[in-house]
Amino acid sequence: MMKAQVNLSRILLCCLLWIAAAGGQNCGDTVRGPNGTIDSPGFPYGYPNYANCTWTIVTEERNRIQLAFQSFALEEDFDVLSVYDGQLRQENLRTRLTGFQLPSPIVSSGSVLTLWLISDYAVSAQGFRAVYEGK
Ligand SMILES: *[C@@H]1O[C@H](CO)[C@@H](O)[C@H](O)[C@H]1NC(C)=O
Ligand SMILES: *[C@@H]1O[C@H](CO)[C@@H](O)[C@H](O)[C@H]1NC(C)=O
Repeated sequence: MMKAQVNLSRILLCCLLWIAAAGGQNCGDTVRGPNGTIDSPGFPYGYPNYANCTWTIVTEERNRIQLAFQSFALEEDFDVLSVYDGQLRQENLRTRLTGFQLPSPIVSSGSVLTLWLISDYAVSAQGFRAVYEGK
């Protein structure tokens, strides 16, 4: 009975560690609707190392998207939030954001805006909170 419980808790611990390790790679979302909020994972207590998160914001046809940051803190130069005006493609890259300055608002030219967060193997910061709305 005791033995079985110990084994079970080991299995659970193993799974939780596995989920935590995968969590960094498996975050982000496709968000729709007229407005909303996007937080980096763990905001404001710090994002994981090895984060690789993509958020695709899709609003109604013919609308633009305005993205405004309410909070922004990423380990300067090593953890980067790239913003794409459209889908995540090199030619759509609008800006790469890093460091501790609140970025100015960004307005898309179409109905899709993509955010891509990459963090390296060490050092985290608060992360970011951004609100978006269709224009
Ligand atoms: C969207 O905007 C409305 C009106 O300004 C506001 O009441 C609502 O809380 C917003 N929703 C989100 C998810 O930010
Ligand atoms: C991020 O995740 C994407 C999709 O799973 C993958 O193709 C890409 O190689 C990853 N990039 C990094 C730097 O981990």
